[in-house]
Amino acid sequence: MKCNSCGGKAVVQMRQHKLALCANDFLEWLPEQVERFIKKYKMFTRSDRVLAAVSGGKDSLSLWDILWRLGYSVDGLYIGLGIDGGIEYSDQSQRLTEKFASERGLQLKVVCVPEVYGETIPDMARRTTRGKTKPCAVCGLTKRHIMNRIAYEGGYDVLVTGHNLDDEAAALFGNTLNWAAGHLVRQWPVLEANQPGLARKAKPLCRIYEREMAAYAMLRGIEYIYEECPYAVGSKSIYYKELLNRMEADRPGAKLSFYISFLQAKENGLFAPHADPKVEQLHSCPTCGQPTSAPGECAFCRMTIKVK
Ligand code: AMP
Ligand code: FES
Ligand code: ZN
Repeated sequence: MKCNSCGGKAVVQMRQHKLALCANDFLEWLPEQVERFIKKYKMFTRSDRVLAAVSGGKDSLSLWDILWRLGYSVDGLYIGLGIDGGIEYSDQSQRLTEKFASERGLQLKVVCVPEVYGETIPDMARRTTRGKTKPCAVCGLTKRHIMNRIAYEGGYDVLVTGHNLDDEAAALFGNTLNWAAGHLVRQWPVLEANQPGLARKAKPLCRIYEREMAAYAMLRGIEYIYEECPYAVGSKSIYYKELLNRMEADRPGAKLSFYISFLQAKENGLFAPHADPKVEQLHSCPTCGQPTSAPGECAFCRMTIKVK
């Protein structure tokens, strides 16, 4: 298989783009694509201060690498969740993230949940759900809260996450199966900071396949944590990803077209006449100042108040 750009030996074949590239051309092509989507969806510019939420995984570390190489001004944020799972999951991901940042001379902020909020995510989940459910919901709520707080308090123009096309297509699939109108209305590559206390958010990798992000990390020599979070096993999003990958195997590009057609339909007015009813009902949490639809304190402050 030959590289479509230079005729050398191709190492990455992207059937959905009918494109095969050698390592050098792929390492140039991928950042160009990311730049294209940053501009297309008006995510941010080179005069903005960007905060990248980095988990130590291939997507977010590669995203940080790409934005840094493209000349954006971008700091990192790592949230220590206190997850062990027999593989020292949190410790390992923090170590790899710190190594990545120091090798490139990049600024990394670390927020350690057990230090700041007095208990690890699994402990918080055991206390609040009496051990009935996995910690993923508690974890998601905590990560969203901290990402928003650090981006907002630090005066960053935008917070970016490493959500890739597989993540976005799986979320869209789940939202469609459930006709989760509120989520479908909000799902977009950029979320505007349309409430006091809210940071702007963007997903520059939303149109890049997970497989390509893994290839980028590998070819760039980025050391990342291979293991998934130990609590992710059996999750719905993994199941949806498997289903979409089966479709992709039969029909290359199925995943991409599912997501892009959704974005295009929204650009053409799908959902447009309907204001998101939840946005209007939000108010500021009296404790942390972040917007919430719950009466009184937000869900995060209610969950952590006893510990504080
Ligand atoms: P996930 O929800 O684990 O699929 O992660 C989605 C995105 O959230 C990642 O690509 C990161 O940008 C961000 N993220 C996840 N976990 C962390 C963490 N512990 N610290 C900082 N950012 C994170
Ligand atoms: Fe939060 Fe797995 S990363 S529960
Ligand atoms: Zn709050």
